[in-house]
Amino acid sequence: MPSLSSLVDRIGGRGASAWDIHTRAMLDRENGEDVIVFSVGDPDFDTPSKIVDSAKRALDDGDTHYMDVRGKETLRRLIAEQHTEKTGQQVTAQNIVIVPGAQCGLFCASLCVAESGNEIITTDPVYTTYEAAICATGAQMVTVAQRVDEGFRTDYHDLKSAITAKTRGIFLANPNNPTGVVLSDDEMQHIVDLACEHDLWIVADEVYADLVYEGEFKHFASIPEAQDRVISVSSFSKTFAMTGWRIGWIVAPEPVADHVENLLLSMLYGMPGFVQEAAITALSECKLDSLSMRDTYRNRRDLVLNALKEAPLIKCQKPMSGMFLLVDIRETALSSAEFVVRLYEATGVAVLDGGAFGSTGEGFVRISFTNSEEDLLEGSRRIVQFVTETDF
Ligand SMILES: Cc1ncc(COP(=O)(O)O)c(C=O)c1O
Repeated sequence: MPSLSSLVDRIGGRGASAWDIHTRAMLDRENGEDVIVFSVGDPDFDTPSKIVDSAKRALDDGDTHYMDVRGKETLRRLIAEQHTEKTGQQVTAQNIVIVPGAQCGLFCASLCVAESGNEIITTDPVYTTYEAAICATGAQMVTVAQRVDEGFRTDYHDLKSAITAKTRGIFLANPNNPTGVVLSDDEMQHIVDLACEHDLWIVADEVYADLVYEGEFKHFASIPEAQDRVISVSSFSKTFAMTGWRIGWIVAPEPVADHVENLLLSMLYGMPGFVQEAAITALSECKLDSLSMRDTYRNRRDLVLNALKEAPLIKCQKPMSGMFLLVDIRETALSSAEFVVRLYEATGVAVLDGGAFGSTGEGFVRISFTNSEEDLLEGSRRIVQFVTETDF
């Protein structure tokens, strides 16, 4: 085979082996074994039927042709209106680009702001796809370790000292996966101040913004000084249980939106019209469905926290948002990878090695509550039994 570009070496990403246990559990489940899968973050809810019906209607009506590459005007207008309502940032449909999921939005944002010789700052732990999305541009990903024993918070001084003359931007998942941390107003202001001082982009990945359990979520775009340097990325995946529909959006200054449109022209040629119709229905008619899913996730979080609270040697960090819970297993003296394998082999419960998200995730495992209450209770019971009975 002829040689390939150096890009292929940069898109491998980190932590691929952490998914082994998940793959194994899925296979075992298919073979009828008694396993409980806490390792993946795909909502277990069906997409609300109104959304599905509108896609079906659009298909029946022949909405099967090429589309405006930037996305349907109606959908972009709706997103712009809702964004302005939430943030106060005055945007129009021209600031919005429809992308196949936040993941693609992050990738496009990366390509527009960074290139070889640049650095992009993010956190450790970091969502696993960030490395490849950033490094694909030729830039380097620089991670700032979160203060683990302060609840995985971002320290301002750590962030400041990571900035160099090569830094082009700060990429943050807020709310965070895997920690469930939501940045405080002060933390956000510090980040914005640094971005202004050093002329950096802020790429704000807000896919869990509608799954915040306490208080109001604040968007970076609501901070006036940030508005000409923030690219907000979000999607329908988590809010409306639409992961497989692959639809999301970015909100960006108009020149950036124009460049993202050019990128999409060269690699996508627009999102399917019927999927966009489904998204219009989601935004205009399904707020209550999304609130109800959020309440269910919150109840599940509390159920797991309660079920694990008496367990010896492990401690849970209460997530403020999202669909995951980090469990501190450091007192077992096992590595996260060992814990994950031994737990699975002893109980059939698959959790994810926190080390997949970076070195500060070592000593933690991630539980996803995209499972029924029954499975969450039974899985938690098995975890408690495992840590109680194992001689570590
Ligand atoms: C922090 C974070 N960003 C982005 C994504 C990708 O979301 P989407 O399905 O919209 O591409 C995920 C998915 O789990 C995520 O956890």
